[in-house]
Amino acid sequence: MRKKIVAGNWKMNNDLAQTETFLVNLKKQIFPEDVAVMIAPAFTNLSHAFTSMREHPVSIVAQNMHQSEEGAFTGEVSAKMLKSVGVNTVILGHSERRAYFNEDSQLLAEKVNTALKNEMTVIYCIGEELEDRKSGNHFNLVKNQLTEGLFHLSSDDWDNIVIAYEPVWAIGTGETASPEQAQEIHKFIRETIAEKYSKDIADKVSILYGGSVKPSNAVEIFSQADVDGGLIGGAALKVDSFMDIVNAFEG
Ligand code: PGA
Repeated sequence: MRKKIVAGNWKMNNDLAQTETFLVNLKKQIFPEDVAVMIAPAFTNLSHAFTSMREHPVSIVAQNMHQSEEGAFTGEVSAKMLKSVGVNTVILGHSERRAYFNEDSQLLAEKVNTALKNEMTVIYCIGEELEDRKSGNHFNLVKNQLTEGLFHLSSDDWDNIVIAYEPVWAIGTGETASPEQAQEIHKFIRETIAEKYSKDIADKVSILYGGSVKPSNAVEIFSQADVDGGLIGGAALKVDSFMDIVNAFEG
């Protein structure tokens, strides 16, 4: 059985007090046993969030990290620093990092290597722009993102990889891929991994959908055979909507 995951990506939202208010409320919630729940706050609040949630089944995740182990990289945060405050999972390759911080696949492959070397789990984001979708190039693009960012990894490395498919045109826009569109490309991603590695490995990888997931569409999206959960932006900023999404798996 693949792991079901709902991860909240807070982006550059929520200061320390807002983080604490959210977490105090989150602690009162009952979580389904078969869903891994994750929250990715800003770097400044990771340590506090980890300590606050220590007794609760919620993982605290980083939104990014630097590819080097340490050194003269002003303003950056290393894998070892994240681990030292209890963070074992990192989101890499988010489309906002790719677009606004010029992170390309080569750099991301280095970040993935550093994360895995430090025994972290990577949530690796891929997804096409609207033009790619319109021209039918989205399959190619997603395949290239997988190949360039992840296909240098060994079979064993895949135990610590989660994929988040996030069509850029659906992020923060209110526009979602239809459940059928999500299923179609998630299936394609799994088949592409199976071709390169094996069906066994592909069947074990959790593939999350991201892009305007809300309580009103989560049930239908999560019911798709190859959708194993979601990476949630806007709707993860309120406990009520986040929990509705955490509880959106059927059965
Ligand atoms: P959104 O963001 O849910 O606000 O569209 C998703 C993401 O960027 O991970």
